[in-house]
Amino acid sequence: MRMASWLWMLWAALLVVGLAGVATAQEKAASGKELFTKYKCTMCHSIKAEGIEAKKAAEGEEAEAKVTDLSDVGSKVESAQWIQDWLLKKVEKDGKKHKVLFKGTEAELKTLAEWLFSLKGKK
Ligand code: HEC
Repeated sequence: MRMASWLWMLWAALLVVGLAGVATAQEKAASGKELFTKYKCTMCHSIKAEGIEAKKAAEGEEAEAKVTDLSDVGSKVESAQWIQDWLLKKVEKDGKKHKVLFKGTEAELKTLAEWLFSLKGKK
């Protein structure tokens, strides 16, 4: 009898350690902002509201004119889902698809799209 309850406690302790491990792994998942830099969106986009400058801007005025600032993108597009489809080139805007196809995982795409969609009205 005593032995059995001891085993239960051990099992419970392992469960707690396991859950803590999961929580840490989730914290380590990159934020939308980190993914934006990781996938080089900064080649062509700035997000001035978040202090992100586009690389092209450093190349001079002509290159800077091609940069789209995404500080307010959440109020321009219909949904985070649209951003996901856009980044996978499934939808068009003004008859055109996005320049680059997103190469990350589905989870990363979701995080990135939701973060971008949350950027509203900040300039
Ligand atoms: C090679 C250049 C280039 C790269 C790299 C790039 N984009 Fe774009 N992106 C564009 C262009 C060009 C447009 C169209 C601009 C416009 O709407 O006038 C655009 C449009 C967008 C839009 C829609 C903006 C709107 O107002 O409708 C979003 C969202 C977007 N990009 C996100 C991203 C993300 C996220 C990444 C990184 C995974 C990325 N882009 C990488 C060139 C690029």
